[in-house]
This record gives sequence, C-alpha cells and structure tokens, in this order.
Amino acid sequence: KVSQGIDLYQLMDTVNEFYQQQLRAHTHKQQAIDYLKQRGISGQIAKRFGLGFAPPGWDNLMSTHGATTSAQKALLDTGMLTENDKKRVYDRFRHRIMFPIHDHRGRVVGFGGRVLNKADEQAGNPKYLNSPETPIFHKGSELYNLHGARAGIKDADGVLVVEGYMDVVALAQAGIDNAVATLGTATSSMHLQRLFRHTQNITFSFDGDRAGRAAAWKALETSLPLLQDGYQMSFLFLPDGEDPDTMVKKVGKEAFEALVRDAMPLPDFLIDTLKSQADVNRLDGRAKLSKLARPLLEKLPGGVLKKLLVDRLSLITQVSEADLLPAKAASAPPV
Ligand code: UTP
Ligand code: MN
Ligand code: MN
Ligand code: MN
Ligand code: MN
Repeated sequence: KVSQGIDLYQLMDTVNEFYQQQLRAHTHKQQAIDYLKQRGISGQIAKRFGLGFAPPGWDNLMSTHGATTSAQKALLDTGMLTENDKKRVYDRFRHRIMFPIHDHRGRVVGFGGRVLNKADEQAGNPKYLNSPETPIFHKGSELYNLHGARAGIKDADGVLVVEGYMDVVALAQAGIDNAVATLGTATSSMHLQRLFRHTQNITFSFDGDRAGRAAAWKALETSLPLLQDGYQMSFLFLPDGEDPDTMVKKVGKEAFEALVRDAMPLPDFLIDTLKSQADVNRLDGRAKLSKLARPLLEKLPGGVLKKLLVDRLSLITQVSEADLLPAKAASAPPV
C-alpha cells in the first residue's frame, strides 16, 4: 500500500524503529524503563516484542518524520499522526509505552500505546490507545502477536486467546509463547478462521470479571458455526480480579499451563450455562432449556459434535431430539 509515493509498511517500520530508539535514548526514557521493570518485563522480552516509548509532547514523531507535506500525509494515513478540527496535525501517541502490532505476515501495521501512570489516565487519557483502522490495519481480522506466536502455537499444538497486550507479554515473560490477543475488539469469525489455519485447539482466557465472562460467552456464540469435528475450544475462567498477566505471576508457568490443560471444554460451558438459566427439575424449566438451546444448536454445522450435544441435551431435558432441533422449514406448497 502506497501513499504519496511512500510505502506504508516501510513507513511503519521506520516509526517502530523511532519509538524503540526513544526507549533507549530519550531524556525521559527512565520513566518508561521503570514502568516496564515494575511490570516484570525484562530487557530481552521488551526487545523481542519491540516495545518502545512515545515521549511526552505533541510533535516528537511529527518533527522527526513528518517534515515534508507528503510524509505528513502518509503518517496521517497510517494513523500515527492525527489532526484536530482546525486541521492542526500532531502525534496521536504521546507519553505511552508502545506495542507494535504485526499482521499475520509479520509487517508492522499499527500500535497499541499504554499510559505510564494513573495521573495521565485521570487527566482523561484512555489507558490504552490503539491505531485506528487504516488501509493496512484491520482490527477485525488481525490478532496481536499471531506472527510472533507461530512457533509457540505449533509446539503447544494450541493457541491461547487473551484480552490484553500485557497478558501476551507477561505470558511470554513466564515462558508461555503461544498467546495472542484481540485488539480491543470482540473475537470475530475472521480471527477464529485465521487461528484455525495454525491449530485446531483454541483456549480462551479472558479476564476474571463480568466483562471477561461476557466476552467468553460471545466467543462461544461466534465459534459455533466454525466447529467442525476435530476442532476443540476451551475456556479458562480466572478468579475474580485476575487476568492472565496477574495469574501467571501469581502461580508460575507450570501451574498456569495446568490451568490451561484443565480449561472447560466448549460443550461443557454451553451446557452448564443453559442449565444455570433453567430449572431442569420442572417440566416448564426443561421446556425453557430446550428453547434456549435451539438457536445455539442451529448455529452448529452438522457433524458428530452436533449429534452428541443434541443427545446430551435431550437426556437433560427429556425432550426428544427431533423437538430440540429447529423445525424444518415447511416446504412451499405445490402451485
Ligand atoms: P485491560 O484493561 O484488561 O488490559 O484491557 P490489561 O492488559 O489488563 O491492562 P494492564 O496494562 O494490565 O492494566 C484489555 C485490552 O483492551 C483494550 C486493549 O487492547 C487492552 O490490551 N483496551 C483497554 C483499550 O483498547 N482501551 C482501553 O482504555 C482499555
Ligand atoms: Mn497465517
Ligand atoms: Mn479487563
Ligand atoms: Mn492486566
Ligand atoms: Mn486485563
């Protein structure tokens, strides 16, 4: 993709190099280094993930890399510069730890930036700021660290899907190299299809909070149409208040890996959730359960898994399999 005669991928490489160089050399680099240290991130891991530093100020990137009109225009196209309604152009990312986002082919296509302190957050800056959609960055299909995790996914024969950049980095710091994160969006069908090109085993580990549990159910619903026989999905639910970052720091690599191995299989999550929404000891409860189950079963592609699920639900509800499955659309009457 080219803008103003400038290759946007090459431009993003240059920007990436700039932020990493700021982490090594800027006058205020120590704040950033201290922040990373305090989060338990070693220099080696920071380097592996290409972490950088967007210094405080409105025009650090602009003055060094946006000097010409065409360079400025190209940087606006990548979302690294932004402009206000008076057309004043300035750095989008200021005073943040920078996480470069690579696409599945390993090219830098965007960034996530985290504030360094609570004061910046209280001043109204969001904790994380992400690159906007651009000609080269599509949040709905890219996952943070998918390129970097390819070998780890192969070795583990599975991928771990988490919510945050810091979760991915902290897991890698602990020696767990098969984690990817969605980019502040819900897990999409395109994300899952991309992951299924690398492995047939996906474990979701969202934050142990209400939002995380809601995201897990949403991911289940999104997954159903893709669940060919052979694919396995699981859900690792963390205790309230924990996320993979805090959890792996607390229990260590081996215990965390054991939690992943023991994660709840998707069919159990589905059945448990349905059972929690209807009292199967009552006749009308069983009717309710079958009504809740039907739209979910409808999403599954035909296959053995679907048969087994229908089987199990029929056993629980004592509703016949034919009644559990969606009514066949009545065929059009002969004219
Ligand atoms: P979290 O707030 O759970 O992130 O948001 P985290 O990784 O645990 O953060 P810290 O650093 O440990 O405090 C999960 C993800 O949601 C997106 C980011 O992609 C983040 O990694 N997010 C979160 C945003 O886009 N904006 C926000 O203001 C917050
Ligand atoms: Mn790929
Ligand atoms: Mn959260
Ligand atoms: Mn966190
Ligand atoms: Mn979190």
